[in-house]
Amino acid sequence: MVRNSKDLAKRLRFDLFPRPDFFRRWYWLVGVLFVAIGGLAWWGLHAGTKQRQYLPGPVSQGHASFGDRCETCHAAYAGVPTEACLGCHTDRTHAKSEVETPDCAACHVEHRATGVFLAVANASCVECHGELASTREQPEIRRSVRTFADHPEFGALRAGRRDEAAIRFDHEIHLSSTKIDPDDTLSCVECHVPAKDGALMLPIDFERHCKKCHAQSGLGPDSSVEAVHEAPDVVREDLKAKLLFAAVNNPDGIFGSTDPGLPGRVRRDPLDASVSLAAFIDPTNPKSALAKAEAKLYQPLDPNLGDGASSLLDANKYCFLCHDEEGTHAPGDLPEIEPTMIPTRWLVRGEFSHRAHDLLKCEHCHPDVRESAETADVNLPMKDVCQRCHIDGETRSAGTSCMLCHLYHDTSKDHVLRDARRKEITIEAIFGREAPRARAPTR
Ligand code: HEC
Ligand code: HEC
Ligand code: HEC
Ligand code: HEC
Ligand code: HEC
Ligand code: HEC
Ligand code: HEC
Ligand code: HEC
Ligand code: HEC
Ligand code: HEC
Repeated sequence: MVRNSKDLAKRLRFDLFPRPDFFRRWYWLVGVLFVAIGGLAWWGLHAGTKQRQYLPGPVSQGHASFGDRCETCHAAYAGVPTEACLGCHTDRTHAKSEVETPDCAACHVEHRATGVFLAVANASCVECHGELASTREQPEIRRSVRTFADHPEFGALRAGRRDEAAIRFDHEIHLSSTKIDPDDTLSCVECHVPAKDGALMLPIDFERHCKKCHAQSGLGPDSSVEAVHEAPDVVREDLKAKLLFAAVNNPDGIFGSTDPGLPGRVRRDPLDASVSLAAFIDPTNPKSALAKAEAKLYQPLDPNLGDGASSLLDANKYCFLCHDEEGTHAPGDLPEIEPTMIPTRWLVRGEFSHRAHDLLKCEHCHPDVRESAETADVNLPMKDVCQRCHIDGETRSAGTSCMLCHLYHDTSKDHVLRDARRKEITIEAIFGREAPRARAPTR
């Protein structure tokens, strides 16, 4: 047998289980030597600072308490199996229709600087979304999304979409009407207050945002009664109590004459039962105070009246100024108010935070609101508004990392949790003196 280096290379590469000959003893010797050196080195390190010596960097904050126990995550010769993570974390798939579920370690790379464990590279998303495979024949979303620039227009702004809220509200009138006292001029924040987590706006609330100017008052024979803002059956109970209260407190005004508007008319006969308190609040008697109050409240509105100089408010200040009736009601029955369904979340597939943009004027992103007269208008920013600052491939960019605007895990759609994890970078830092540090890449 000729022993030259060429031959040796051949054997090493192709002959993984060499025959018992000289080479085998040679391997054995080298093996023992390596084990001995390795053992010594391990002993030296272990006696000193334990396994930390092998760590390419500290584990993430959440894992610090068991970071020393490498075997919690690392399996011998198997890298970091997903099962190790699932021992502590619940199943974290992404979409019900996903064809495969990647290993956790494909995105969550440990031992980098603290704070970046959650920073997942766009490549991890584009791997699937560059050319999406789904168990659905036709995925609900566009098949190819590779960058923010190449991203489809937001769903709420696509052609044909409208605001389906069943409430009449005219932004233009409210932000410019001369009928509103100059001291009471409305600004956006009087009606739109961000929720505690700073992300989306709190729902509109009649009591806080409308009642000041649209109180449902002036009811009852002496106009002293104000209806509560509730469903009509509750309004009825409330009216009964308030009308009785008014009658008891003001018997002369209310029962003193059959027509309190004309003083001096004959007082009622004390024995006339038709003016009893029970009759006063009898909904089936169209002459009762209750029926009259309800007739006022539920007087239909012609929504075309608002054109020209007059306003809808001149035509009717009660329920159907703002609401529509759900179906129709038989005479004697109460109407049903159509559920308002004012959307509180528009971009259902993405995350947005008003707080992160609170140095901008509302009109920067909602420029048409002041001219919007219809509830049906969708006054949200289109994607190109975002692209003024969220620019792909530029240093002075507010970021186009997919995870800036998207959550990955089905189970983690929790804004509070997410907000607490984000590092704040202010708009000043980005557009002021210095460019921001780029979001730390993963791999
Ligand atoms: C919380 C789980 C976890 C613990 C605990 C942990 N690791 Fe890791 N480790 C990971 C993950 C995840 C990776 C990335 C795996 C990959 O890239 O496929 C990794 C990668 C590594 C790598 C490869 C480094 C690289 O940059 O690719 C080494 C070496 C390593 N770990 C050593 C250790 C040692 C030593 C310990 C104990 C002191 C330890 N790890 C504890 C999760 C852990
Ligand atoms: C021994 C239990 C345990 C194991 C094993 C474990 N984790 Fe965790 N993990 C935790 C705890 C505890 C936290 C901190 C509490 C929290 O944020 O929910 C955490 C936090 C996290 C976070 C949030 C980190 C942050 O900065 O907020 C991620 C992501 C995560 N783990 C992923 C993994 C992955 C991937 C693996 C497998 C490589 C893994 N974990 C293995 C217990 C574990
Ligand atoms: C395709 C990339 C990707 C894969 C694969 C992935 N994650 Fe995540 N993970 C993310 C992103 C992005 C976030 C931050 C946004 C979010 O919360 O959805 C995150 C957040 C987390 C968090 C912190 C937020 C929370 O939900 O509590 C945990 C824990 C976590 N992942 C665990 C896992 C585990 C366990 C696996 C494997 C079963 C896994 N991840 C697989 C991308 C991934
Ligand atoms: C394993 C492949 C895979 C990976 C990796 C992946 N996705 Fe997806 N994603 C899917 C599938 C499949 C759907 C559902 C498509 C359908 O059937 O309509 C989906 C849906 C989505 C949607 C629409 C969600 C909705 O509520 O309808 C968004 C947004 C999204 N992914 C963002 C991301 C981001 C951000 C990442 C990276 C952190 C990512 N995806 C990584 C496969 C993947
Ligand atoms: C008097 C209260 C009030 C004021 C002041 C007000 N809004 Fe509204 N806003 C509403 C109501 C009620 C709705 C729900 C009805 C609708 O969807 O149009 C709404 C809805 C919206 C919507 C989502 C639906 C749509 O129309 O696109 C946006 C965006 C909005 N307002 C922005 C603004 C901005 C910006 C300002 C200031 C320039 C402002 N609003 C001032 C009451 C108000
Ligand atoms: C600061 C007082 C004020 C507040 C608060 C207010 N409004 Fe008005 N609203 C008015 C005035 C004044 C008009 C009549 C404006 C005009 O004709 O110029 C009006 C008119 C209206 C009209 C009729 C518009 C038209 O087309 O003519 C509707 C509907 C309405 N308001 C709904 C609401 C709702 C819903 C809210 C609460 C989200 C609200 N308003 C809050 C003062 C207010
Ligand atoms: C100035 C406008 C305005 C007037 C007038 C008004 N509402 Fe409302 N109403 C609203 C707004 C705005 C909401 C949604 C926010 C809320 O629930 O407070 C609402 C919500 C409601 C709801 C809940 C609907 C749902 O989505 O389930 C009922 C019921 C209701 N109103 C009844 C009435 C009745 C009855 C009257 C007359 C007594 C009345 N409203 C008068 C503005 C008005
Ligand atoms: C600046 C914020 C932002 C960034 C960066 C971003 N997205 Fe989006 N993305 C959104 C918003 C907002 C929507 C629309 C949500 C809706 O329509 O409900 C969306 C929608 C999507 C959809 C659904 C598309 C459809 O057809 O409806 C996918 C898939 C998606 N994004 C993937 C990605 C991926 C992958 C990346 C990274 C390359 C990314 N996004 C980066 C904000 C962002
Ligand atoms: C950087 C752009 C931007 C700025 C600045 C901004 N908004 Fe928005 N606004 C949005 C986007 C995007 C949405 C859709 C969020 C969603 O519902 O998913 C939205 C939604 C809304 C809504 C509908 C309810 C909701 O939370 O979804 C209202 C109301 C609103 N904005 C009012 C305001 C007001 C008031 C201001 C000023 C204080 C303001 N916005 C500033 C981008 C912006
Ligand atoms: C005038 C510049 C500007 C515009 C326009 C803008 N953004 Fe931003 N955005 C920023 C800055 C600066 C940050 C903070 C960067 C960071 O936290 O990394 C930010 C952060 C974000 C975040 C992360 C929020 C958080 O909680 O950390 C999201 C999501 C986002 N923007 C989405 C959008 C969307 C969607 C639009 C368009 C409707 C938009 N932005 C328009 C400058 C802008």
